[in-house]
Amino acid sequence: MTSITIIKPDDWHLHFRDGDMLRETVPATARCFERAIVMPNLVPPVVNAKMALEYKGRILDAVPAGHSFDPLMTLYLTNDTTEQDIVDAKAAGIPAAKLYPAGATTNSSAAVKELEAMYPVFEKMAQEGMLLLVHGEVTDHHVDIFDREKVFIDQKLTAIVSRFPELKVVFEHITTGDAAAFVAEASDNVAATITPQHLMLNRNDLLVGGVRPHNFCLPVLKRNTHQEALRQAVKSGSPKFFLGTDSAPHAKEAKENACGCAGCYSAWGAIELYAQVFEELDALDKLEGFASTHGPDFYGLARNKDTITLVREEWTIPDEIILPDGRPIVPFHAGHVVHWKLAS
Ligand code: DOR
Ligand code: ZN
Repeated sequence: MTSITIIKPDDWHLHFRDGDMLRETVPATARCFERAIVMPNLVPPVVNAKMALEYKGRILDAVPAGHSFDPLMTLYLTNDTTEQDIVDAKAAGIPAAKLYPAGATTNSSAAVKELEAMYPVFEKMAQEGMLLLVHGEVTDHHVDIFDREKVFIDQKLTAIVSRFPELKVVFEHITTGDAAAFVAEASDNVAATITPQHLMLNRNDLLVGGVRPHNFCLPVLKRNTHQEALRQAVKSGSPKFFLGTDSAPHAKEAKENACGCAGCYSAWGAIELYAQVFEELDALDKLEGFASTHGPDFYGLARNKDTITLVREEWTIPDEIILPDGRPIVPFHAGHVVHWKLAS
């Protein structure tokens, strides 16, 4: 096959950041995605409808002329979130709220410390038809970092989905066979996003031959058997799995650091890298579902009308990109050859 045309995809999980950075991150995503679920872990976090709408305005200001792009905003849940915050957010067109266990990842210290105390908020979300997006890791010090997703399923997520069967839950950026099986066996109100890095890499790519800070993200890459389980999940064509890049930019100096930040900036090559994975799996016919239809169907939104075409052409992901403030950033999979290219 030398070209593939699919319904224009959406990115159901990413981080744009704010300020100057938007002039880099928004065009990178708008080049091929029609919509994106925008994560709210700014400093300070996006905790109410007013902040979300103001942030949306700043994102729209950064969309290049001639591109249509629709940012879908999210609310950052804290133990101070009220049921009224949910009602107001839904009325403002905000489709989802994000649950970060406090301390699980970048800018999550203000997030949820007492998960069960959130149950009245989850109840209101189910009533309002607002989706719950979950960073599924426990943060207990004694739990090994490689086990944190599985322990979250057992201790937290199983209880949430059984207590709120009407609540739509997206288990974000899943990394384990346990998570893929949990989602596959759960009700139709439970789905998951999967990133390019968790399909392409495993923890050897993080640690063998030296620490690779640009492959460090959270949840951390797992062993190859988990990677293979995720690949089989997308190959299955199940509508429960869809595209969420978790593109998460951090400047080079913040990644190549004694305490390096978590996150892979994948926006520049994401759709092409997903195509490569599906081709390796001999499942290119499943790419459109994963990238373009399962997500909007789960969210209850219309599928996009436009299409994109990927052509079989080799190109190399740049070693560095210069941010608007002059600092370099290393994109995900920098320096590697990609076999698919977005046709302009
Ligand atoms: O690797 C990650 N980076 N995982 C997250 O959950 C957050 C993200 C970020 O904001 O940098
Ligand atoms: Zn994320």
